[in-house]
Amino acid sequence: MKKYASLKSIASYIPSRCVKNSDFEAVLDTTDEWIRKRTGIQTRYFASDDENSSDLGTKAAKLAIERAGLAVGDIDLVIVATLSPDYLGMPSTACLLSAKLGIRNKPAFDISTACSGFIYLLSLAKSFIESGTYENILIVGAEKVSSILDFKDRSTCVLFGDGAGAAVITSTTEQDKSILDVHISSDGTYYDYLFTPRTLKGSGFLQERFSPQYLQMKGNETFKLAVKTLTNDVENIMKKNNIASKDIDFFIPHQANLRIISAVGEQLKFSSEQVVITVEKYGNTSAASIPMAMNDIYESGRLKAGDLMLLDAFGGGLTWGSALVYFGA
Ligand code: ACO
Repeated sequence: MKKYASLKSIASYIPSRCVKNSDFEAVLDTTDEWIRKRTGIQTRYFASDDENSSDLGTKAAKLAIERAGLAVGDIDLVIVATLSPDYLGMPSTACLLSAKLGIRNKPAFDISTACSGFIYLLSLAKSFIESGTYENILIVGAEKVSSILDFKDRSTCVLFGDGAGAAVITSTTEQDKSILDVHISSDGTYYDYLFTPRTLKGSGFLQERFSPQYLQMKGNETFKLAVKTLTNDVENIMKKNNIASKDIDFFIPHQANLRIISAVGEQLKFSSEQVVITVEKYGNTSAASIPMAMNDIYESGRLKAGDLMLLDAFGGGLTWGSALVYFGA
């Protein structure tokens, strides 16, 4: 019998420090009104100094495993998507998170696809399960974006937040509980639209080696490309699977900017009930944004087993992707 991959559970963790737009007014040339009007963001949450992406991810992951009705020992593979890993280079945040969960002697690795992280995670988990390689996969989007923000740059630092979202992907024989389709893509020629410079200074030997790591973004160019690319991508995946807008229970886009979400949502003719919006509360939490939004509708009781979700994301790389996912709980 054919094996399908199923999104069995969803959970998130939101750090406790809530930062309002007005908190930026004292230190930057900005206003609550500008941020709300241009982005839709009202608040975001920042992790504490001693909380890293692996800590945020571990809390979300524990709950996701519990909600899947599994024990940590049942997890065969851990994959984390993050642009704000605990350590640059190594060890991976997935290894740290596994250790914190008590998972040992299992494969664990990170992926670097910025805000498209959760869609890429779904694609990987689907392949590993459908090929029969693994049975239960923990996927986590975990971000302490605040650790790479330049708090002197008003055009970026007001946009992002910290948080984590986790899901357990298991195997099923029921297609109507499966991850129906995932599409991922990238175009590295636009690498400098969104990036964190980490260039070597001088020849290296006995010299100070790293320049600042802060995130930089060509906001306006990214905005235009995001609307165009996402609309095309979503139209394509729906057409390929013979699914119309009315068949979708929830459209859960990456939460970067309310204006991008509204533009894509309107072009695709989704009603306001179908479109999930959390950007006003959490800001842009990069790879964590889609699972955090999904968890919001789960915890509020709106998301039910068998509901069909359409996900889409766009981020640094540039990367993008979309997915059609039945909630397999
Ligand atoms: N407060 C007040 N003024 C500001 C602020 C601020 N926080 N930030 C920028 N401005 C100013 C600019 O300096 C500019 O001033 P000027 O006209 O005097 O030069 C003016 O506001 C307009 O700036 P724009 O950049 O044109 O503003 P825009 O309407 O494009 O909004 C934004 C900027 C919010 C960044 C938007 O372009 C955006 O959301 N872009 C897409 C982000 C995105 O989708 N990223 C992908 C995912 S993220 C990831 O992968 C990590």
